[in-house]
Amino acid sequence: MKVLGICFSHRKNGNSEILLREALKGSRECGAKTEFMSLRNKKIQPCIGCFKCKDKGVCSQKDDMQAIYPKLLEADGIIFATPVYFYSLSGMGKAFIDRTFALKSPELRLMNKVGAAITVGSSSGNISTLHTFNMFFLTNHMVTTDYVAGYASNKGTIKKHRHAMLGAYELGRLVSLIMSNGFEYPAEFNMALYLLVKEKYGIHMSPFENVGGFETSR
Ligand SMILES: Cc1cc2nc3c(=O)[nH]c(=O)nc-3n(C[C@H](O)[C@H](O)[C@H](O)COP(=O)(O)O)c2cc1C
Repeated sequence: MKVLGICFSHRKNGNSEILLREALKGSRECGAKTEFMSLRNKKIQPCIGCFKCKDKGVCSQKDDMQAIYPKLLEADGIIFATPVYFYSLSGMGKAFIDRTFALKSPELRLMNKVGAAITVGSSSGNISTLHTFNMFFLTNHMVTTDYVAGYASNKGTIKKHRHAMLGAYELGRLVSLIMSNGFEYPAEFNMALYLLVKEKYGIHMSPFENVGGFETSR
C-alpha cells in the first residue's frame, strides 16, 4: 500500500509542505509506504487541449509529467497539498491537474484510489480551492476521504496552527485506513457517469450535440 503526497507550493518547507509531511507521517503509522513529491522544480507545461490523449491515454507533451504518470498509477492513495493563490490552487498545481486528463482514457485509471486534500491560505479561499480537488476525486471515481484547511501566511508559521497540524496527521491516517478497507466501485462504472449514460443509452449530456465525442482539431 502506497500513499503519494504531491505538493503544489513553490516554497521549500512552506506551509502546505509541512502539513503534507504530517499527513504522510500519519499514513506511515497506519502501515502505508509513502512518497513525498514537490512540483517545485518540475517542468509541467499547461495542457494544450490537443485531445491526443483521448485514444490511448498518452499525453503528447514531453516534460516532467511523463515520469509522474506512473507514480500516480502505482499509488493506492494520493494526498494533494496546495497554497491558496487567488482563491484557487497554485498555477503549477492547476497545470498538473489539467494534465491528468490523460489518465481518464481509455478508462478511468485512477479509479478506486483514495484521495485527500490539504490547502493553506493566509485568510480566505481554502474552500473554493478545495472545489477543484473534490471534482478531481469525483470525476476520477476515487474514494474521497476528507480535507484540511490551514491558515498561515509566512513560511513555516502553520506549525503554530495546532489544529491544522493534528488534522493533517489524522487525514493521513484516514487515507491509510480506508485503503486497507478495500472500498471499490463496481467495474461497470469505470467511466464518468455522463459517458456511461451516453454509451449505455446513446444520449449525449448536451441535448444539442450529436453523439460523437470531443472535437479533436485545434
Ligand atoms: C500569488 C499569491 C496569491 C495568494 N492568494 C491568496 C488567497 O487568495 N487567499 C489567501 O488566503 N492567501 C493567499 N495567498 C497566501 C498564501 O496562500 C499563503 O502565504 C500560504 O501560506 C502559502 O503556502 P506555502 O508556504 O505552502 O507556499 C497568496 C499568495 C500568493 C503568493
